[in-house]
Amino acid sequence: MSEQNRQWVLAKRPVGMVEEGDFELVTTPVPTPAEGQILVRNRVLAFEPAMRGWIDDKPNYMPPVPIGGVMRGMSAGEVIASNLSGVEVGDVVTGMGGWQEYVLGDAGMRKVPTGVDPKLALSVLGMTGITAYFGLLEIGQPVEGNTVVISGAAGATGSVVGQIAKLKGCRVVGIAGGAEKCGWLTDEAHFDAAIDYKSEDVGERLDALCPAGIDVFFDNVGGPILDEGLARIARGARVVICGSISGYNAEQQQPGPRNYYNIVQKRARMQGFVVLDFLGRAAEAIAELAPWVADGSIAWKSDVQHGFENAPKTLLRLYSGANFGKQLLEI
Ligand SMILES: NC(=O)c1ccc[n+]([C@@H]2O[C@H](COP(=O)([O-])OP(=O)(O)OC[C@H]3O[C@@H](n4cnc5c(N)ncnc54)[C@H](OP(=O)(O)O)[C@@H]3O)[C@@H](O)[C@H]2O)c1
Repeated sequence: MSEQNRQWVLAKRPVGMVEEGDFELVTTPVPTPAEGQILVRNRVLAFEPAMRGWIDDKPNYMPPVPIGGVMRGMSAGEVIASNLSGVEVGDVVTGMGGWQEYVLGDAGMRKVPTGVDPKLALSVLGMTGITAYFGLLEIGQPVEGNTVVISGAAGATGSVVGQIAKLKGCRVVGIAGGAEKCGWLTDEAHFDAAIDYKSEDVGERLDALCPAGIDVFFDNVGGPILDEGLARIARGARVVICGSISGYNAEQQQPGPRNYYNIVQKRARMQGFVVLDFLGRAAEAIAELAPWVADGSIAWKSDVQHGFENAPKTLLRLYSGANFGKQLLEI
């Protein structure tokens, strides 16, 4: 094939806030699939805050993207050549396709069922939904009637966590940035209340909204917001550490949570998790999530940017809160 493959590669390791200049656009020949491989034309790229950690040269749960390597990331695309039995030209697949127009795939890529929007397969019915589902139900273990508080609540993961908690009979409070996101949480996602951390005092509002304490605190943010949550946990609470986006771009390591001793006093548990450990059980999550999405019990949003050349710019949106919904880019 004579066509060229545009790729975004890592040019240098960021210091502090990731910048567009940390990546470089290169062109290579489109590869040819060997036996057992498929060639996929990427259509949609998905962006995760954790990408900032993948481009650091520090220990992580995934090896660092090497300098000169194609930026890692989930994508959805169309199969344009197949040497893999069971996958046909025209099938739509998702997987770690990376920031490139064409990618070689294998049996590790997931077929998107006919009729399912690839954007959904990259969000609620993909890695994001699986994170929310197992993070809340397995690690948070909510019980009907519990008060569940979520930081980063209007984001891709947080919004699904809150809606699952509502469907399981919990009272749900979300913490998010800005009136528009908070309005969406209560009006569309049916949260019981939302706190705008950019204009309100989070501690005061948590006191008012959770007078008996927080049973499950699902944290996507870390930093001072985690501290406010820890100060208000109920006896036997579960603090789920899903992410810590407030510190991902910090040049210096952030101080640990000041209120951690409350975990002792409240006989609570604080536990982190990585969605990759639950991928073997993905079908369980999808089986419960898909009907909720289909009947409108779970509202979902995607924030779709356009143009392959805008991939680095699109990643940066996550760290300023410019994204409203799952951050995607249509090539
Ligand atoms: N453990 C796992 O396996 C796993 C898997 C996937 C994701 N995660 C984590 O889940 C979290 C959410 O990821 P996502 O993909 O769903 O992204 P997202 O929530 O859709 O987007 C990130 C959001 O974080 C908020 N944010 C950014 N900087 C912030 C700051 N300094 N303080 C407070 N909030 C800030 C912004 O919302 P506001 O406008 O509300 O500030 C932004 O929209 C991240 O921490 C991510 O690393 C973990």
